[in-house]
Amino acid sequence: MRTNLKYTIVGIFSLFCSLNVSFASDPGEWSPTWKLPVGKRPENVIDQPITVPGDVKLHQFFSPISCGACHPEIFKMWSGSTHANAWKNPLFQAVYRLGVETAEGESQKRNIESCVRCHFPIGHSSADLSLALDDEKAGVICDFCHSVRATTGIGNAPYILSPGNAATMEGGTKYGPFSDCPETIHKSQYSELHTRSEFCGGCHDVSHAGNNLPIEQTYTEWRQGPYNTEDQATTVHCQDCHMRQRPGVPGTGNTERPDNPGFASPEIMGGKKRPHIWTHYFVGGSTAPISLPPNSEIQPQLAIDRLKHAATLDVLIDPSYQRGNVLRFQVNVKNTGCGHYLPTGLTELRQMWLSVSVVDGEDKIIYQSGQVDDKGGIDPKAIIYHTTFGDEEGNPTLHVWKATHIISDNRIPPKGQKEERFVCFIPADAKSPIKIKTVLHYRSAPQDVADSLLKEKSVKLPIIDMVEITSEVKL
Ligand code: HEC
Ligand code: HEC
Ligand code: HEC
Ligand code: HEC
Ligand code: HEC
Repeated sequence: MRTNLKYTIVGIFSLFCSLNVSFASDPGEWSPTWKLPVGKRPENVIDQPITVPGDVKLHQFFSPISCGACHPEIFKMWSGSTHANAWKNPLFQAVYRLGVETAEGESQKRNIESCVRCHFPIGHSSADLSLALDDEKAGVICDFCHSVRATTGIGNAPYILSPGNAATMEGGTKYGPFSDCPETIHKSQYSELHTRSEFCGGCHDVSHAGNNLPIEQTYTEWRQGPYNTEDQATTVHCQDCHMRQRPGVPGTGNTERPDNPGFASPEIMGGKKRPHIWTHYFVGGSTAPISLPPNSEIQPQLAIDRLKHAATLDVLIDPSYQRGNVLRFQVNVKNTGCGHYLPTGLTELRQMWLSVSVVDGEDKIIYQSGQVDDKGGIDPKAIIYHTTFGDEEGNPTLHVWKATHIISDNRIPPKGQKEERFVCFIPADAKSPIKIKTVLHYRSAPQDVADSLLKEKSVKLPIIDMVEITSEVKL
C-alpha cells in the first residue's frame, strides 16, 4: 500500500571528502512501504505525513553523551552498538560511496538517496549531512529513537519526529515504555509503538526506493512467523529478544528471556527502581570491528552468544551403509532461535554455511565440503544460506541499487528447517569408527568482497561456529 504523500527535497548536500549527492526534486511516494490496518497496529501508528527533510533542524537533537549524563548505563550499552556506528561504519561507507559513484538512471539514484534515511536518520530529516563522519550525533542515536512520536506504517523509515531543542536546552518530550516518569530536563510520554516490533519495522524492512523490490524483510518475516501470535500477551517482539540480551542472557527463541530489574536513571537523578529495564546492546550477528564501533567491548561476545543460540543441527544416518559401499546421511538445520529468517537483514552479503567432514577411525578423510581456503574463500560445493539479487540483465549483483529481482533465497524461516542430503563412498579398507562432523558457520560478508571494498583497511572477518555435531558410525 502506498501513502498519498508528496514532498520535495531541495538542495545539494555536501558529504565528507567532497562527495556531492544531489537529491532528485521529487523522490516520490515510497515510505511507508506498507501499513497495518487500524486495530492491528499500535495507537501511535497514524495516517499523517511523515517527517520530511527540512522539517526539523540538526541542532535540535541532543548528542547521545548528553543523554548519557543521566542514563549512563544505557549510554554505555548503546555506544558499543551497530546503531551507534550506522553512518561511519566503513563497510556501509564503502558500499554507499560505490553507489554514489556508479548508480545510473533515476531508479538506482533514488535508491542511493534513501540510504541516509536509516543510517543517519537525523541527517536525513534535517536535510543536513554536514556532520563529520565520526560525530557522535551521526548514526541511529538516542534522540532520534526517543523523539519518534509516531509512524505511519512499515518500511523505509516512515517516522514522525517531535524533538526538543538542544540549542536552547529545551528537553522536549521523550517517548518510551513508561507512563509514570517524573519530569526532568525532558518530559516523558508512554508510546505503545516503542513497545512493539512495529517500531523497529520502520527501518528493519527495506525496499528498493526506485522499484519497490523487497531488500531486507526482517519485520515482515517476523510478522508472518510464529513469534507473532497477534495477541500482545503471548507475542514475542523484537525487543523481547534483542533488548533483553545481556552477558549471560543470549535472549533468543531457544533460551530464557528474563526481566532485567534496575534503574533507567540513577536514583539521585530521579530514576525509580523498575521491574525491567530494556537493554540497549542491539546485538545481531556482527562481530567484526568494521561493523561495530572501535570502543565496542561487550558486543562481539554477545553476538557470538546470540549466534550460538540461533540454530540446532541433527544428523540422521541411513543404516544401510557398509565398507566398499555408500554412506548416506541427512543434516537437518533448524532455526530455533530467531524471530525471523536465518539469516535475516543484509542477506545478499551475509554467509551462513554448512561444513561437513567424514573421517575414518585413523582420521583419513573420506568426504569434505564447506571448507574455507587460506584466502577466506568457501568451497564452491558448500551449502550457503543467503539471498542472491539479479540486475536488469539477469546477472547476479551485490549492488543493491542495481537489483531488480530475487534470483534465489534459501534461508530458513523461523522455527522452520532445511534438510540437506549427503552421500559418500566408504573405502574397503576404512577403519572403524567413521566420524561425521557437521558445523554451521556464520560470517558477515564474503572475505573477497570486504577486501575489494575496503582495500588496505580491510580486516579478516571472523567466522563463528554457531553449532557443531559429531556422529559416529561403527563399521
Ligand atoms: C537531567 C537528567 C536527564 C537527562 C539529561 C536525560 N534524561 Fe531521560 N530521563 C531522566 C529521568 C530521571 C527519567 C525517568 C526514569 C524513571 O522514571 O525511571 C528519564 C526517562 C527517560 C525515558 C523514558 C520515557 C518513558 O516515558 O518511557 C526516555 C526514553 C529517556 N529518558 C530518554 C532520554 C534521552 C533520549 C535523553 C537525551 C536526549 C535523555 N533522556 C536525557 C533523566 C534525564
Ligand atoms: C533504535 C532505537 C533506540 C535507540 C538508538 C535508543 N533507544 Fe532507548 N529505547 C528504545 C526502545 C524501543 C525502548 C523501549 C522498549 C520496549 O518497551 O519494548 C527504549 C527504552 C529506553 C528507556 C526506558 C528504560 C528502559 O531501558 O527500559 C530509556 C531511559 C532509554 N531508552 C534511553 C535511551 C538512551 C539514553 C539512548 C542513547 C544512549 C537510547 N535510549 C537509544 C529504542 C532506542
Ligand atoms: C532509524 C532506523 C532504525 C531503527 C528505528 C532501528 N534500527 Fe536496528 N539497525 C539500523 C541500521 C541502519 C543497522 C545497521 C547498522 C550497521 O551495521 O552499520 C541496524 C542494526 C541493528 C542490529 C544489529 C545487526 C547486526 O548485524 O549485528 C540489531 C540487532 C538491530 N538493529 C535491532 C533493532 C531493534 C530491535 C530495533 C527496534 C527496537 C531497531 N533495530 C530499530 C537501523 C534502525
Ligand atoms: C525469538 C527471538 C528473536 C526475535 C523475536 C527477533 N530476533 Fe532478531 N535475531 C535473533 C537471533 C537469534 C539472531 C542471530 C542470528 C542471525 O544473526 O541471523 C538475530 C539476528 C538479527 C539481526 C542480524 C541479522 C544478520 O545476520 O545480519 C537483525 C538485524 C535482527 N535480528 C533484527 C530483528 C528485528 C528487527 C526483529 C523484530 C522484527 C527481530 N530481530 C526479532 C532472535 C530474534
Ligand atoms: C529502511 C532502512 C534502510 C535503508 C533505506 C538502507 N539500509 Fe542499510 N541497513 C539497514 C538495516 C536495518 C541494517 C542491518 C541489517 C543486518 O544487520 O543484517 C542495514 C545494514 C547495512 C549494511 C551492513 C553493515 C555491516 O557492517 O554489516 C550495509 C553495507 C548497508 N546497510 C548499506 C546500505 C546502503 C548502501 C543503502 C542505500 C542503498 C542502505 N543500506 C539503505 C537499514 C537500511
